[in-house]
Amino acid sequence: MTMDEKKILLAEDDASQSALLALELKQRGFRVETARGALAACVRVEKDLFDAVVTDLRLGDGDGLSVLSAVKASQPETGVVVITGHGSIDTAVAAMKAGAFDYLTKPVEPEELALALRKSIEHRDLVGEVRRLRAEVRERQGFSKIVSASAAMARVLELVSKVAATDATVLVTGESGTGKELIARAIHENSPRRDGSFVAINCGALPEGLLESELFGHVKGSFTGADRNKRGLFEEASGGTLFLDEITETTPGLQVKLLRALQEGEIRRVGDNHPVKVSARVVAASNRDLTKLVADGKFRDDLYYRLKVFPIEIPPLRERPEDALLLAESFLKRARVRTGSPAARFSPAAAKALSAYAWPGNVRELEHAVERSLIMASGPAVELSDLPPEVASAAASAPTRAAGRAKKKAKSA
Ligand SMILES: Nc1ncnc2c1ncn2[C@@H]1O[C@H](COP(=O)(O)OP(=O)(O)OP(=O)(O)O)[C@@H](O)[C@H]1O
Ligand SMILES: [Mg+2]
Repeated sequence: MTMDEKKILLAEDDASQSALLALELKQRGFRVETARGALAACVRVEKDLFDAVVTDLRLGDGDGLSVLSAVKASQPETGVVVITGHGSIDTAVAAMKAGAFDYLTKPVEPEELALALRKSIEHRDLVGEVRRLRAEVRERQGFSKIVSASAAMARVLELVSKVAATDATVLVTGESGTGKELIARAIHENSPRRDGSFVAINCGALPEGLLESELFGHVKGSFTGADRNKRGLFEEASGGTLFLDEITETTPGLQVKLLRALQEGEIRRVGDNHPVKVSARVVAASNRDLTKLVADGKFRDDLYYRLKVFPIEIPPLRERPEDALLLAESFLKRARVRTGSPAARFSPAAAKALSAYAWPGNVRELEHAVERSLIMASGPAVELSDLPPEVASAAASAPTRAAGRAKKKAKSA
């Protein structure tokens, strides 16, 4: 047997048919084991791993569907190709519903069977690869990548882990650059939906009509340029998470449609009156003051109440200075590898400035400041003068630790 010879189990009760198909498959490079009944096939499947399984639906001692469910139970990745009697379309449908990869009707064309088996193996390999890649991405951007030392962020992360387990709609608020998208991803990655897609859309980036067709999809001919049916992001994110960034930038008309999608769990494609069920979990984000927008009549209150079932507010970086330095060090480590900079740490004066600066652009500004300072730095440490000027000057206005202590003493005296 060669290395890439694929192992097939063939369950077929008719001896001559079994021998014939086995021979044909062997000639096409498969390694074939045969089972002459449902029971025998189930036993083989429990003991051994196959690359694909072929089963006749009518086996002498039972039903091919029982072989199918035995495969699904013991080796769910393995594809099953079902062979049905001529014209028994109902059983074929039942087999597909039960998770068969494909079905063929008798008389079976060996080449067709070989093709179905190769496709099923290819499909299994791709699914496995997607899973591996997702796990890799998850490791890179999941929870573990959220750097924090502050009590405020610990509370945020506690909320994240609590809500992740549910399907509740989440509203993440916080100033620009505080990490709203990172938190939204963490919710997805820690939820039972983690193997589904995380689909993000910035509601402020598209005009109303385009946004609607992006979100809900459209049918062919619904507007100029709609030359085919297109699934929307709500459908793409079914079983996963839909991240609606800058939710406040939607028009009142679209807000009504979003509300309906959230409330009814169904959407309508543009140009189509039939509702489509969707099961995306929605996480929305905004850096604006929603209560004020609602009070001013600029955001629909019913949608607001529906979204804020579970609110998470990320505090600005200036309210958690202990995070600033830790984040800076983590960005330094990461950027060092990329830039090959000699600087491996911050000088005490630079560190002081990093914690004292108010970071109006929050973590994103900090990230950029660190990158820039690494380009500037020529020694083993990032010096105060390597920091952007507005950051560096924060050191001067900040009290030193000694001065802070002296002040406290003076107060208590
Ligand atoms: N706690 C954190 N740990 C590590 N990286 C962080 C953290 N918070 C934010 N970041 C990083 O900062 C950058 C900005 O974060 P993100 O894009 O999630 O912010 P945002 O709130 O969505 O910003 P905006 O309102 O501008 O869209 C990203 O590169 C993100 O990875
Ligand atoms: Mg964002």
